Amino acid sequence: MQQTAKAATVPVIVLLGAPGAGKGTQAQRLVERYGMVHVSTGDMLRAAVAAGTELGRLAKQYMDAGALVPDEVVIGIVRERLMSADVQERGVLLDGFPRTLAQAEALAEVLPGVNLPSPTVVDLKVSDDELVERLSTRRMCRSCGAIYNLRYDGLDVGDACPKCGGEVYQRDDDKPEAIRERLRVYHAQTAPLIEYYRQRGQLVEVEASGTPEEVGEVVMAALVRPVGG
Ligand code: AP5
Repeated sequence: MQQTAKAATVPVIVLLGAPGAGKGTQAQRLVERYGMVHVSTGDMLRAAVAAGTELGRLAKQYMDAGALVPDEVVIGIVRERLMSADVQERGVLLDGFPRTLAQAEALAEVLPGVNLPSPTVVDLKVSDDELVERLSTRRMCRSCGAIYNLRYDGLDVGDACPKCGGEVYQRDDDKPEAIRERLRVYHAQTAPLIEYYRQRGQLVEVEASGTPEEVGEVVMAALVRPVGG
């Protein structure tokens, strides 16, 4: 009974925003500061691809093309993750989920079932031109998932990650054709969630074209109430 009361007070944050808006970058800062569990559906799917699991083989064909993995697959993995003890204890930051109306509705149904509160949804707003620029210059660490950018970190494919020594690589879906398709899919399927959450009074809109540090300050200020920071 005691555990139930505690779980209901932990934060549930959703980072909404187009590909390249800075969800992963801000997520890393937020979990460092507030300690909630970072649940990135993109990271989970990439891990499944790297491990060569059945889920990974299924997801890869969608991801490489810049398309969304089917709702029922993604909803299933998120539902399972939300039931785990660490999420119940520390709360959760959802990065890249939900990104369709069906996913948003599934989340609204799942959260009360696992005794978690409704999410506060942060929409990171960036122009399409800047998104293309950020994605085509992004590099990541294959081992620890750290996110870099050629424009200000100077790291390129094959370099060692300064954080863990892992290999720096370019994501397959950060090639021009996949980037264009991801933006098209975002505008068609994910952008409508902005209005969905606005109507429910759960939306915080953040102008996210500044530096990662500037955006981080604005996001944290906007979240003072939900995370109690
Ligand atoms: P996912 O991994 O979620 O990719 P995404 O949503 O396309 O987002 P990104 O990771 O590309 O960008 P980001 O917003 O995290 O930006 P980042 O911080 O890295 O999904 C990948 C694929 O998996 C999907 O296409 C789909 O196939 C599948 N998938 C995942 N979730 C799914 C779901 N729920 N349903 C169905 N399918 C799903 O920043 C980008 C770059 O910009 C970096 O280089 C960074 O250093 C730089 N940067 C960040 N902030 C700033 C700033 N303020 N100024 C300048 N540069 C910045």
